[in-house]
Amino acid sequence: MLDLLGNRERTHHCGELREEHEGRTVFLAGWVARRRDLGSLIFLDLRDHTGVTQIVCNRERSAGAHAKAEDVRPEFVIGVEGVVVRRSAETANAQLPTGNIEVFADALLLLNESKTPPFPIDDAGKTQEETRLRYRFLDLRRARMQSNLRLRHRASSAVREYLSGCGFTEIETPFLTRSTPEGARDYLVPSRIHHGHFYALPQSPQLFKQILMIGGLDRYFQIVRCFRDEDLRADRQPEFTQIDIEMAFPQQSTLFKIIEGLMEQLFSLIGVKLERPFPQLAYDEAMERYGSDKPHTGFGLEWKRLALPEDARGKMNVAEPIKVLRVPGWAQASRSQIDKLQKAAVEAGAEWFATAKVMDEGIQSALAKPLGEATVRQLVGAAGGEAGELLVFLGAKPGSHGPATSRRLDEASGQLRLEIARTLGLLKSGEWHFLWVVSFPMFEYDEKEKRFAAMHHPFTSPREEDLHLLKSDPASVRARAYDLVLNGAEIGGGSIRSHRRDIQQMVFETLGMTEEQARERFGFFLEALDYGTPPHGGIALGHDRIVALMAGESNIREVIAFPKTASAVDLMCDAPAPVDAQQIKELGLKVTND
Ligand code: AMO
Repeated sequence: MLDLLGNRERTHHCGELREEHEGRTVFLAGWVARRRDLGSLIFLDLRDHTGVTQIVCNRERSAGAHAKAEDVRPEFVIGVEGVVVRRSAETANAQLPTGNIEVFADALLLLNESKTPPFPIDDAGKTQEETRLRYRFLDLRRARMQSNLRLRHRASSAVREYLSGCGFTEIETPFLTRSTPEGARDYLVPSRIHHGHFYALPQSPQLFKQILMIGGLDRYFQIVRCFRDEDLRADRQPEFTQIDIEMAFPQQSTLFKIIEGLMEQLFSLIGVKLERPFPQLAYDEAMERYGSDKPHTGFGLEWKRLALPEDARGKMNVAEPIKVLRVPGWAQASRSQIDKLQKAAVEAGAEWFATAKVMDEGIQSALAKPLGEATVRQLVGAAGGEAGELLVFLGAKPGSHGPATSRRLDEASGQLRLEIARTLGLLKSGEWHFLWVVSFPMFEYDEKEKRFAAMHHPFTSPREEDLHLLKSDPASVRARAYDLVLNGAEIGGGSIRSHRRDIQQMVFETLGMTEEQARERFGFFLEALDYGTPPHGGIALGHDRIVALMAGESNIREVIAFPKTASAVDLMCDAPAPVDAQQIKELGLKVTND
C-alpha cells in the first residue's frame, strides 16, 4: 500500500546533512539507491539530485518503518522522517560527503514503486548507450547526467549575464521560417493551410540576426536551437544549440575581446583561468602546419611542405611538394608501429607514405633504395631532421596538383598528426588550447557541382583588399571569417558580413546565382539590405560542444537531456514515427515508399 505525502515537505536534501545536524529531526525524500537487509537492521541509501544519505531502519526503534523498508526495492520513491546520528569512526564512509552521519528512521512513507530498472543507476558507465537513451528518464538520475545538465544551466546563465552586461539584447527568432543555406539539408515542415508550401526549421538564425542589425538593435544574442539534417558524429546533433551573436559597427578585434571574455566567464565555472588574448592563425598556415582548419595546438608535431632535392626528382612515385613531420623520440619506432602509421595514413587519404629514422649511427629509410643514401640524407637535411626523430613523409600521386590535391594531402596529414598524438599520449585532459583561425578563403571549388561554394556562408564579406579578385580569381579571395577552436574542436564560427548590396550581389554572382535566383531565395533579406544596412558581424558558438568540453565529455549527447542517436532517432519517444493517414491528407501530402 502506498502512503500519501500529505502536507509533508523535505527539511533537507539527501546530500546536505553533516555532523553539525546531529540530533535534528529531519524529513528526507528521494529514490532508494540501495538496500541492505541485516535482519533487524535495514540500511537504505536514499538518493536525490544532491547526493545520498544512509537511512537506518531499526526494528526496535520503529517496527513500522522497518516493516516498510522490507518491501522497498531500488528506485522506489520514499519519504523518511528520522533523527540525524553521527556515525562511529568504524562505520563512517569517507567516500560520501554525508558519510559521517546517518538518519535513524522513525517513519517511512512509501510514495511510489518502481519496476526493476533495466540497468543500475550507479553503473559507472557500463550500460550500453542505446539502453541509456531508451530509458533516458532513468539515465538522467545518474550523478554524471545531473552534473552535466546543471553545468549546462550554469553556462547558459553565465552567457546571459555576461552578454547582457556587454549591452546585448536577447531576442527570439522564428523556428517556422524559410530555409537559409548553411551547407546542410533543411528539416521541412509542411503547411496545412498552403498545400505544397513548406516552412524550414532554421539551420541558424543567420538572416534574422542580420536583419536585427538593419533594424537598429545594435547588439543581439540568443541561446537558440538550430536544426540541420546532416550526417551525425560525436560532436553533431540534428538539433543543437548555438550561442548566437551579432553586433553593429564591430571591429573584428572588439568581437574577439567580447568572445574571449565570455569564454573566460564560462571556464571560471569549472575553476579554470584562461590566458588571453587567444592566439590567431591564418587558415593557410593552419592547413600547412597542422593539416586542419581546427588544429589542436596543445602539442607540437607540425608538418612542413617540402620541395624535393634536385637529386630526388623523378625517383619517387610522388607529386611535389610533399609534406614532412618530425616526431621526436620515435627513431626507435618498431616495424609494426610504422605499419600501423602507414595504414592510418592510407585510411586518411594519403596516396604516398614514407618514413626515415634519424639515428646517431645513420639514417634508416626505405627511400634509400630509389634515392641512394646521399639523397636521403639531403632530404632529411631539408626537413631539418635531427637524431632521435622519426620523419614521416606524405604525398599525393605523381601528376596530381591543384587546390583539391593539396587540400586532400593537408587533411590526411592532419588526421595522421592526431593519430600520432594519440599514440604518443600527447592529448592531455585538463589543458585548454584556444585558437582563432582567421583569413579563410571566401570560396571553395565544389568538384562535383563544378562551381564555387561559400566556405562559410554567402553573407560573409570578402576582405576589402580582395574585392577586385571576385571576378578574376575567386579562389584567392579571402573572407572576413573566423572560427574559434578549442583543443582541436570547432566551437564557433562567424564573420563580418557584406553590408553593401553591390558586394553581396557580386558574391552571389561568383556562386553562380543570378540576381533573380538570389531574389527568389532571400528576397526579404536583400530588400532589407537596401535600406541603410550598417556594417555588422557576429559569431555563433556551439553551446553543446563547449559544455561537453567543460564537462570532459567526448560526445555532446552527454550534455543534452534528450539527444538523438547517430541515425537521428530519439529512442525514448521513438521519433521520427509514422503519422495518421488523415494528418498526411490534411497536409496535402502523399507518402510513397520508394
Ligand atoms: P556554423 O555553421 O559554423 O555557423 O555554426 C556555429 C557553431 O555551431 C556548432 N555546430 C554544431 N554543434 C552541434 N551539432 C551540429 N550539427 C552543429 N553544427 C554546428 C559548431 C559551430 O562552430 N550562422 C553561422 C554563424 C555566423 O556566421 O555568425 C553558423 O551557424 O560549434
